[in-house]
Amino acid sequence: MSYEDETTNTSSNPHINDLVESRLQDPARRGLLRGGFGAAALSFIGGTSLIAGCGGSDDAIASAAPADAGLARAPARAPVNAPEPVRPTALGFSAVPKSLADSLVVPDGYTASVLLRLGDPIANKIPDYANDGTDDASTYAWRAGDHHDGMHYFGIGATGTQANAASARGLLVQNHEAITPVFLHVNGPTISGTGPGAARTAPDEVLKEFYVHGVSTVEVSRAADGSWSYRKNSPFNRRVHTLTEMELAGPAAGSPYMVTKYSADGTRTRGTVNNCASGYTPWNTYLACEENWAGYFRRIEATDNANRSAKELKSLGRYGVRGNGRELWATVTPDTPDNLYGRWNAMVLGTSAADDYRNGPNTYGWNVEIDPFAPNSTPRKRTAMGRFAHEGAWIAKVEAGKPLVWYMGCDSRNEYIYKYVSNANWDPVDASRGLAAGDKYLDDGKLYVAKFNADGTGNWVELSFGLNGITAESSVYPFADQADVCINSRLAADVVGATKMDRPEWGAVDPVTGAVYMTLTNNIATLRTLEATDAANPRHYNDVRTNGTAQRGNPNGHIIRWLEAGRDPAATKFDWDIFLFGARSTADAVNVNVSGLTADNDFSSPDGLWFSKATNVCWIQTDDGAYTDVTNCMLLAALPGAVGDGGVKTITNKNSTGATKEVQTYVGANLGTKLRRFLVGPVECEITGLAESPDGRALFVNIQHPGEDTAAADIGSPALFTSHWPDGGTSRPRSATIVITRDDGGVIGV
Ligand code: FEO
Ligand code: CA
Ligand code: CA
Repeated sequence: MSYEDETTNTSSNPHINDLVESRLQDPARRGLLRGGFGAAALSFIGGTSLIAGCGGSDDAIASAAPADAGLARAPARAPVNAPEPVRPTALGFSAVPKSLADSLVVPDGYTASVLLRLGDPIANKIPDYANDGTDDASTYAWRAGDHHDGMHYFGIGATGTQANAASARGLLVQNHEAITPVFLHVNGPTISGTGPGAARTAPDEVLKEFYVHGVSTVEVSRAADGSWSYRKNSPFNRRVHTLTEMELAGPAAGSPYMVTKYSADGTRTRGTVNNCASGYTPWNTYLACEENWAGYFRRIEATDNANRSAKELKSLGRYGVRGNGRELWATVTPDTPDNLYGRWNAMVLGTSAADDYRNGPNTYGWNVEIDPFAPNSTPRKRTAMGRFAHEGAWIAKVEAGKPLVWYMGCDSRNEYIYKYVSNANWDPVDASRGLAAGDKYLDDGKLYVAKFNADGTGNWVELSFGLNGITAESSVYPFADQADVCINSRLAADVVGATKMDRPEWGAVDPVTGAVYMTLTNNIATLRTLEATDAANPRHYNDVRTNGTAQRGNPNGHIIRWLEAGRDPAATKFDWDIFLFGARSTADAVNVNVSGLTADNDFSSPDGLWFSKATNVCWIQTDDGAYTDVTNCMLLAALPGAVGDGGVKTITNKNSTGATKEVQTYVGANLGTKLRRFLVGPVECEITGLAESPDGRALFVNIQHPGEDTAAADIGSPALFTSHWPDGGTSRPRSATIVITRDDGGVIGV
């Protein structure tokens, strides 16, 4: 999508600090470093785990009820004889071929069933979805949203309360990242005018779009015959969307930068948007992460810039807050008294910030904590975790008496990888405290950004006011306080020289080795040149499409991974390598198809990434536009080794002028048959979102935006829709959650 195709990182930060290049000249030292980490990782098999979903039984039942819900959650439990995590030695299915068909392909012996589609009603009072644009806007407050994305399964035990290991009944909480507007309305969106004068003239269409963004909580269950369905009238069912009241929490709450007409004290905002991947907490709440939110705001620079301070302009520019607003939400006239539409106008209109929504964008770009077991609770935006294009938040291994750590990526080209470390040490008693536990661990902690060094090591640099040059005297941006640092995390990361990456997407923590994996989905030559290649972003090549079209840069992406020093998630040093490189299997085997991919496992643009807790299998999903001449997007399964298991590799890159550059990097061992394609989706979809029943016998996967490239002019000609998935015939395509089961009832993938 073009909304993500620009970069706002104009800092001079390197992809890798060349100060450390000299360390490469010392192979003995490097070998010592890497050998030490690698050997340790290979022998590490982990210990007991307190991560939600591991250990315990369906019988673990709640005692304490959260005050704001009356719905009980499980008491804190220590794992008893929790099994040591091990990984299978082989995958248990045959790879599926690449596919351009408008259908879902899964291996023999597996069945993929549609569970929850765009528009499906999640309350008894709501009629079935007509899926022709005529469904009343108000009903969308109780329908599944569009563009299903990151999700998590929270088990419900026998007495109807939270239970970590409950595999037959649970809450599926998921994001609805964005919309395919052409299919939401009778004739696509109704718009008058063009350019800056373009305006939405059908308020109900915009209201519908407000509702289909956000998050849904839907109860799902497995019947005796093994089939899954959602419960339309569950009291847990909930939609959180762009109109939902939110509390701002943490250092930036109540700061002058958060003051809007909606909240004169800067403690509240409305809604969440562009929720991409997600996260969860050890107290069984959900983190919906706000990704490419900036484009939703309208800010006409030619008018607004003159009313802004230099400091404001720096912040607005670094976050890309400019333009007409991608869905033109602010253009509806007349506005409502509570500025339902005008709140998306981020321009200076009044005399103070309390008169308008100039600070509206500052209330977006956060991780939003939602308690699925307290459906009436107010979600909280956790500002201590920083503000950027939050892809998701992935928790490290949880240990009593140690800080809690979440890894996070900023999804734009040339942006950074972050982590958050709580100041409080984990006390398992807090597992039953819901959002109050969030107040303790998520509002008080330290934010770090990653620097990947050329010698295969890395550093986490703290982003705190007064440290590491993050001061009022900074030439990058005059920080005022920690609230300013949280709101302008990207600028703080610029100050400390963080490493620009090839567009960070999902992360995942390997339960077996403790290594952290993160997808770098792709980058393009115009934004990351040959000269800017570095050890952590080492390829620059031409991926030629079947029709001869050149695709230069790193169009196929890669997956980086690192092991924290001492396997301590709170460490400030780590050791990294590149786990996998996306490529066509037919590409140059030395410099492009570095991982030795074959027809059974070649892929491009990795995005979703997740380890099954039931099997420790690594699952990889693609959101691709480069290899789509050959295949639709896919899901693959992998059995990784350990950081450092593939050694040193020199890659020779070439740009469009024929100039070359050699880059030395560190790669994972080729996986061979330990990497296999498991699923291919329908036309123009993205495969994203992964969750499982704790017994590993149901895998939930999201199919996002099938048919998204259907031309607006073709909405009256169903035969011209590029996809009709999942309902077939002449239907409009719909994003949907599917559930994959094995025909013999077994565990998925092994
Ligand atoms: Fe929404 Fe980063 O993909
Ligand atoms: Ca994504
Ligand atoms: Ca993506």
